[in-house]
Amino acid sequence: MVFSYSRSQRKLMRLAREAQGHARAGTLREAILDADALLLAVHWSRVNAVLKQAGDLSGKVIVTCSLPMNANNTALVVAHTSSGAETLAMRVRQAHVVSAFSTVPSEVLFDVFRRKSKRRTPRRPSLLYCGDDRNAKKVAARLIRDVGFRPVDAGPLRVTRYLEPFSLAVDNSRTRATKDLRSRTASNVSGKLRRPPASPVRAGRSTRISRSSVSDRLPLL
Ligand SMILES: NC(=O)c1ccc[n+]([C@@H]2O[C@H](COP(=O)([O-])OP(=O)(O)OC[C@H]3O[C@@H](n4cnc5c(N)ncnc54)[C@H](OP(=O)(O)O)[C@@H]3O)[C@@H](O)[C@H]2O)c1
Repeated sequence: MVFSYSRSQRKLMRLAREAQGHARAGTLREAILDADALLLAVHWSRVNAVLKQAGDLSGKVIVTCSLPMNANNTALVVAHTSSGAETLAMRVRQAHVVSAFSTVPSEVLFDVFRRKSKRRTPRRPSLLYCGDDRNAKKVAARLIRDVGFRPVDAGPLRVTRYLEPFSLAVDNSRTRATKDLRSRTASNVSGKLRRPPASPVRAGRSTRISRSSVSDRLPLL
């Protein structure tokens, strides 16, 4: 697994270290070279730049979770009559685009992955994916299973016209949950009631909150 595309090489190296195994940091071209699948997880405004750097994507499976958001993340710039995933597929006709992972907030992924390795695993949460190429969808379903979800085939790529607005609704819940926890943490800190929670993620310049405390407040299908 190759982590690429960040302004910080150190961040990519840390991600690779944390992922263990054969993971490493590399350039986009290195990530693409022998990959079975590419996970596109950049802001919509960066997609063109990524494609330009990527070069030849012939035959590649691109799993995208990128929502076609405007610059200040308040609205979808493509919706109803098309979707971000369909727009991407039109731009990289030589590759096979599958849409997945946009319907879950990233804070949830760690908990789902951790739960997968427990001996008495509860029922796996479902994760919807869609695409037009059968083999590419098989690759995506395997990835989804590896993370710890139960893959649910939602149909052809045009279904992302409905999934992407839903993902935006989920993202709004995530923003509200984070704001809520941030204000609770701030009042707890000012009242000196609690120590900071373990395993923090950055939630702003001065406040740190735990991943699991956010994911507890988020929907899983
Ligand atoms: N986060 C979620 O829960 C969630 C849920 C559903 C869908 N999505 C979608 O997933 C995508 C990624 O979300 P995110 O929250 O991870 O976005 P993000 O914080 O913007 O991160 C995207 C990546 O792009 C890199 N990047 C940004 N500008 C760059 C530049 N100029 N040059 C090189 N690298 C650059 C960032 O690296 P550095 O910042 O380290 O430079 C980071 O690794 C978005 O399209 C979003 O709509 C996210």
